[in-house]
Amino acid sequence: MKFIPLASPDIQEQDIQEVVDVLKTGMLVQGKKVAELESNSAAFVKSKHVIATSNGTSTMHLALVALGIGFGDEVIVPALSYIATANVVELVGATPVFVDVEIDSFNIDATRIESAITPKTKAIIPVHEFGLPCDIEAIMKIANTHNLYIIEDAACALGASQNGKFVGTFGDFGSFSLHPRKAISSGEGGLITCQKPELAKKVQILRNHGIDIIDGKMEFVEAGFNYRMTDFQAALVNSQLARLKETLTYKNELANEYQSLITNSKIQVPNCPADRIHTWQTYHVLIDPTINRDELIKTLREKGIGTNYGAQNIPDQIYYKNKYNHNAAIAFPNASRAYKEGLAIPLYEKLNSADISYIAAELNKL
Ligand SMILES: Cc1ncc(COP(=O)(O)O)c(C=O)c1O
Repeated sequence: MKFIPLASPDIQEQDIQEVVDVLKTGMLVQGKKVAELESNSAAFVKSKHVIATSNGTSTMHLALVALGIGFGDEVIVPALSYIATANVVELVGATPVFVDVEIDSFNIDATRIESAITPKTKAIIPVHEFGLPCDIEAIMKIANTHNLYIIEDAACALGASQNGKFVGTFGDFGSFSLHPRKAISSGEGGLITCQKPELAKKVQILRNHGIDIIDGKMEFVEAGFNYRMTDFQAALVNSQLARLKETLTYKNELANEYQSLITNSKIQVPNCPADRIHTWQTYHVLIDPTINRDELIKTLREKGIGTNYGAQNIPDQIYYKNKYNHNAAIAFPNASRAYKEGLAIPLYEKLNSADISYIAAELNKL
């Protein structure tokens, strides 16, 4: 029996050749290929600046440091996300303030944000969860009213948009991950977008040990990090970026197939509002509570289908529970439900309609 993993990166021969070509030059750190990736991805999402980094966590860490967010500050984050969204807030010494998500979109509920704002609030990190844009237009209005920074966590959403504008270009910063579960991957890697030259420069300096060039001389002007990407990683992802548009179109077709083939009323399939484009980084369904989701993961594995839960209910993870002692089930009911009853099923460019039909048929048997 063939096994369909939950995710599998689509690395083609020409991508491998691009990496080999870089390896042969001996240029193994950040250089010309990283610069190429930055300008290609800026053109792709129509952003003034893009800075490539080591991953989609260092991007957000850099953004928070560049904005001067730290001890005593609060940052609003969704209760449901990958843990990194909250970890970066902790890493700069600020406090993550969790807001529940909507149960149909799994994105932060914009209508609950204002009641979480206090005089200490400095920023919001809205996540475009699973590749579906959150209502970033509504969130930008709230941020403008309350004078808050926005760092869009678009880790899963390279190519997603609301009303034709790419996510990652609404806020002060946008953060993308190039982890192998994303549509294009450099192994580990990240991209950070921003529209202001002074912020872009600050992030470039912080990414590279705090180095700036002053009067032609290398000076250390900040206590920076080493969050650089290598040139061979950039070559790998540059090559995939050239076909990203086609990849996303194909994934959208597969998502439509799931939508029409999964007919079991015990499974709620995801939806995409008419004003948004979804990247379908994760096809995330909600399973009826009468079905034990963890048992289901095992059963599907025996049938050759790799699945997993989708994202963490962050306030309920050990570190956050111990530190903040939230009663997550009461305070964040939708995040708690999505964490317990959510299921990510395979959707990526290497799958075909027969795979989708097989998976849908197995889900319909539940
Ligand atoms: C929403 C979200 N934020 C941040 C990250 C972290 O990205 P990385 O693994 O590249 O550090 C991920 C990773 O999957 C993610 O899904």
